[in-house]
Amino acid sequence: MGREIVESIKKRFHELDPCTNSNYSKFKVVNTELTLSVSFKSKTLDGRVIYDLKNLADADKVIFDTSALDIKEAKVNGKAVKYELKPVTPIYGSPLHIPLDPSNKESKVEIIFKTTDKCTAIQFIEGDTGPYVFSQCEAIHARSLFPCFDTPAVKSPYKFIGISPAVVTMSGRPQKSDAPNTYVFDQPIPIPSYLVSITSGNLLKAPIGPRSDVYSEEPSLKKCQWEFEKDMENFIQIAEKIVFDYEWSRFDSLVLPSSFPYGGMEIPNMTQLTPTLISGDRTQVKVMAHELAHSWSGNLVTNSSWEHFWLNEGWTVYLERRIVGAIAAQEAQNEGRKDAEEYGEQVRNFNMINGWNELTDTCQTFDERYTKLVLNLENGDPDDSFSRIPYEKGFFFLFHLETKLGGIKEFDPFIKYYFNKFKYQSLNTAQFVDTLYDFYEPKGKKEVLDNIDWETWLFVSGLPEKPEFDLTLANQVYKLVDKWVNYIEKGGEIPGDETQHFEGEQHMLFLETLTAKFKTLKVDPATIKQFPKIYPKYGQSKNGEIISRWNELLITFGQYTSDDEIVTSFADWLGTVGRMKYVRPGYVLLKDGVSRDFAVEVFKKYEHTYHPICKTMVKKDLGLA
Ligand code: BES
Ligand code: ZN
Repeated sequence: MGREIVESIKKRFHELDPCTNSNYSKFKVVNTELTLSVSFKSKTLDGRVIYDLKNLADADKVIFDTSALDIKEAKVNGKAVKYELKPVTPIYGSPLHIPLDPSNKESKVEIIFKTTDKCTAIQFIEGDTGPYVFSQCEAIHARSLFPCFDTPAVKSPYKFIGISPAVVTMSGRPQKSDAPNTYVFDQPIPIPSYLVSITSGNLLKAPIGPRSDVYSEEPSLKKCQWEFEKDMENFIQIAEKIVFDYEWSRFDSLVLPSSFPYGGMEIPNMTQLTPTLISGDRTQVKVMAHELAHSWSGNLVTNSSWEHFWLNEGWTVYLERRIVGAIAAQEAQNEGRKDAEEYGEQVRNFNMINGWNELTDTCQTFDERYTKLVLNLENGDPDDSFSRIPYEKGFFFLFHLETKLGGIKEFDPFIKYYFNKFKYQSLNTAQFVDTLYDFYEPKGKKEVLDNIDWETWLFVSGLPEKPEFDLTLANQVYKLVDKWVNYIEKGGEIPGDETQHFEGEQHMLFLETLTAKFKTLKVDPATIKQFPKIYPKYGQSKNGEIISRWNELLITFGQYTSDDEIVTSFADWLGTVGRMKYVRPGYVLLKDGVSRDFAVEVFKKYEHTYHPICKTMVKKDLGLA
């Protein structure tokens, strides 16, 4: 055993990214200039992209990914050329072939294009204060925004130019611009296509830290500022201590309209956030910590294909939990607690337990092919494989390594080494393992690595071995859950609301553990129907994390019908959020807990408000696709 493992791991996935039609491996992208001009009237973007390419393999053509793009013109070194837009392939779009002179080592390739109404990357909406457009390219939607090597294996520095009657933000640092309606951005750090982004709308900004502003439309700006201003700079400084200095200069963020399909998206210099985070109680700032952590994992150091997505998200959850734990320790210290560090670890463990529950749930319910850490995406759609697996199995793999290698103190130097070694690059899982050996072998820990069960962790579906958790904070919750279990099994006095002393996410753990337990018991719906009276605060919550869990509990076990208040108000709520994390399970809950017809009826009512990606996924979930 030993290093041979790296060679055998390499053979288990594709050498090149299977989710692109492009011939990216034959080129180096030296620089990219992307101009996008917004038309709110036609709901399209006019674009021009200019690539400075180094031809590494004497290729006689360059092939870019496109999807639903209207190609107008292509030039090589200033001369118009005869390009070919090939027929559309399943999932991956239409390859765009542009002839090159193979004897030229360097070429400037320019393409003029326009997006169409089939574009899956952008959504035009009526914002609160005017027309609004935003994009979302991860994982493989960048090809419907501009012709590109749409693979995370390719990185380029960019110059971005956005033209619009409304304010524009893109994935870089704003530059001075004198031309009217023209916004210029510079991204000197090489980034992959999925991090390219454009937003335009009536945006204002407010400071939330010395190197951070938050952007949103006017009506919610102050609330957004309040939500983040306490933590932002603190998060950055803590992350810098764990990894190394923040390299992107500013960390600004943008709170999007409600149809934004994700919780957050780590756009360089302009993290995008769902408005569901603005709950007025700072309970969801953890998402900001997550997106910030991507400044190292994902944005500096990137997975080389979506088969290795865990390298992006697993590492990010790992850093996020380290940040959250460190913040808790810091707060305990400020309160004069002697066990501050220990408390920080308790909080980190509490977050892990939540993650473990999500992992268990996903392994039980999700397509088995996609519960492996390293995925096989040949002919696959990354949107279909998307789940909590890369996040949580990725996290627990890293936590397993941390534990086996001797804990945080032994693992911390590796974090710095790894991120430094691969910054500005993309890597795969074999390179990750190889780097572990590089680092730990000289430290006499080769045997520890040899004893890791790589095969199971990386290539076998389902739950990995369960670690031991510090249960201090979870036990407070389990005690109350046990009271309920006892009541349901043996009767006696019905429990009251004993959750007053719970903090933050203990409420979430309480609701989801009750749901999990009730699945194994016979619960009388009449008992469930008393819950809204026992826990009125959950019914009144504005926090999506509570609303979704609370309604799952009630609707799964309460035998409510489609005209019960509980069901109608939950259905109404689904019409106000666009975050897939809530929308998708929400409709599945209506389908399984009420009826499929009702779920479809509600979906039809709100379909037009959802983002194209969200719409497609809910249709798949409801069997409408
Ligand atoms: N990069 C992801 C969002 C994403 C993943 C978009 C795949 C498209 C395809 C982002 O960093 C993320 O993980 N968001 C989470 C936040 C959570 C883990 C704190 C989300 O949206 O729920
Ligand atoms: Zn993430």
